[in-house]
Amino acid sequence: MVYDNIVLIGFMGSGKTSVGKILARQLHKKFMDVDTIIESEQNSSINDIFDSRGEEYFRSLEQKCIHELTQKTGQIIATGGGLPIYSSIPEKSLVIYIDADFDVILNRLSTKEHAKRPLLQDESRAKVLFTQRIDTYKELSNFSVDANQSIQTFIHVIVDFVLDQRVL
Ligand code: S3P
Repeated sequence: MVYDNIVLIGFMGSGKTSVGKILARQLHKKFMDVDTIIESEQNSSINDIFDSRGEEYFRSLEQKCIHELTQKTGQIIATGGGLPIYSSIPEKSLVIYIDADFDVILNRLSTKEHAKRPLLQDESRAKVLFTQRIDTYKELSNFSVDANQSIQTFIHVIVDFVLDQRVL
């Protein structure tokens, strides 16, 4: 199988964006971040989009964004934590699950990063979301990486796996 793109999935704050940037640099691929693209196209933060237009509208933006991005090949794409739940990821994507425990995520996020995520504000609801989503992340992924340690300690596991695959 030749994959068109690498798509990183996982819960909010698991490190998809940081991993994606490093991977792109090491593999000489272009890095794309769905949330950042949406924010810049809407000229608005995720919090503001949720507040003013609602979550459903945000999900439609995500769907459009991943569809448009995957018309091209050879990219590392970081998704928002809900994207694989609400949108379909094209089949020819190499999907990697950045698998971090809920407590690790909460401890790792700075106050600023925590505040940027509307669905993380109510901790008990976020924990329910986490539990509901993990099976889907596992089912959709071609590969999972244990992301409970620092990125430096697990990045080579992803790089080795990707180098064994054929990604355009
Ligand atoms: C969301 C995750 C966020 C962002 C939005 C909704 C989710 O991205 O897309 O706040 O539903 O899990 P990160 O996974 O980068 O935090």
